[in-house]
Amino acid sequence: MTVLVDMKVTLSTAEPRRHAEPTARAIELTHLVFERPDLSRAEAFLRDFGLTVVTRTDDVLLLRGTAPSAYGYRVHRAGKARFVGLGLAVASRDELLRLSRLAGATPIAPATYPGGGEQTVLSDPSGFVVEVLHGRQSAEELPTREPLALNVGKVARRINHGQRPPVVPPAVIRLGHVALEVADYQATARFYTQHLGLVPSDIQVLPDGSPAVAFLRLDRGAQPTDHHTLALVQGLEPRLNHSAYELVDADAVGMGQRVLRERGYQHAWGIGRHILGSQIFDYWSDEHGDKHEHYCDGDLFTADTPPGVSAVSREAMAQWGQPMPSSFTRPSLSLRALLAAARNLRRSPDLSLEKVLTLARLFG
Ligand SMILES: [Fe+2]
Repeated sequence: MTVLVDMKVTLSTAEPRRHAEPTARAIELTHLVFERPDLSRAEAFLRDFGLTVVTRTDDVLLLRGTAPSAYGYRVHRAGKARFVGLGLAVASRDELLRLSRLAGATPIAPATYPGGGEQTVLSDPSGFVVEVLHGRQSAEELPTREPLALNVGKVARRINHGQRPPVVPPAVIRLGHVALEVADYQATARFYTQHLGLVPSDIQVLPDGSPAVAFLRLDRGAQPTDHHTLALVQGLEPRLNHSAYELVDADAVGMGQRVLRERGYQHAWGIGRHILGSQIFDYWSDEHGDKHEHYCDGDLFTADTPPGVSAVSREAMAQWGQPMPSSFTRPSLSLRALLAAARNLRRSPDLSLEKVLTLARLFG
């Protein structure tokens, strides 16, 4: 007989936590920045994924969703594929000014891409670039299909009509969140909580109580915000884990899977429903192995919801659907990645051989 013991799980580290007076409070994840050797191939995947091109030059490609945001995805032409970083907006110029005084921050300058405004550019302790914007102008909302009318139990909304969502790439509404793997977990988490005001929604911990995955959200007071805008994953080196984009409903997620499969792309994981954040999800890899998540129906929290702490495991990643494949979290085995991991193991206060082995046992 199996006896289930409900053990209390607690966080044993200082971060992530809520700071009473952060340097600034980010109010929006505005965009992500990538480098790619071939902008045409990048554009083809992202269009098939459901993003809309804003502009493209020989060197820069900008894309957006249907929400009234100027752009949400920026790709620079470069020799090697690389994830560069993210953009966050703050509500006041005072906050931008305070951030621009942090070590390594650039002086406030006009933001030159669509939407404009002013920006300061920071680098987080893991080396990801953080472009903080203030005064960015919104854009016209783009047309999109309405959510399908569902017959739910006793509630019949659709009589004498079939469900026929169009067989096209599902229109991405907006960039939702980004998940980053980092070696220096405590310093990186502190950067986002102390300086950008992110607050933990859920923290999944290892047996020693240190965080394996933390889901951080924006603090927008009484205004509900996504369960997570940034997820930080304990890894062996800094790298993008995935980025996520909101779709209108579950049929859009399903149609996205059909279209991407028919067009020959690499499936990563799904369809399923997450536990923490509750999204119905489906993950697809681009040609460089970077995972892009379609999702709908995510949780929304106001600022007063306290963080949850739970034990991390592969089973804790979804409540239904395909189990999370080990390829999803497997570290890169390139020589460069192995050398970086060995260096970080010696150097990072958040990594030990024991922790690496525990992570490998849980996710390898
Ligand atoms: Fe996600």
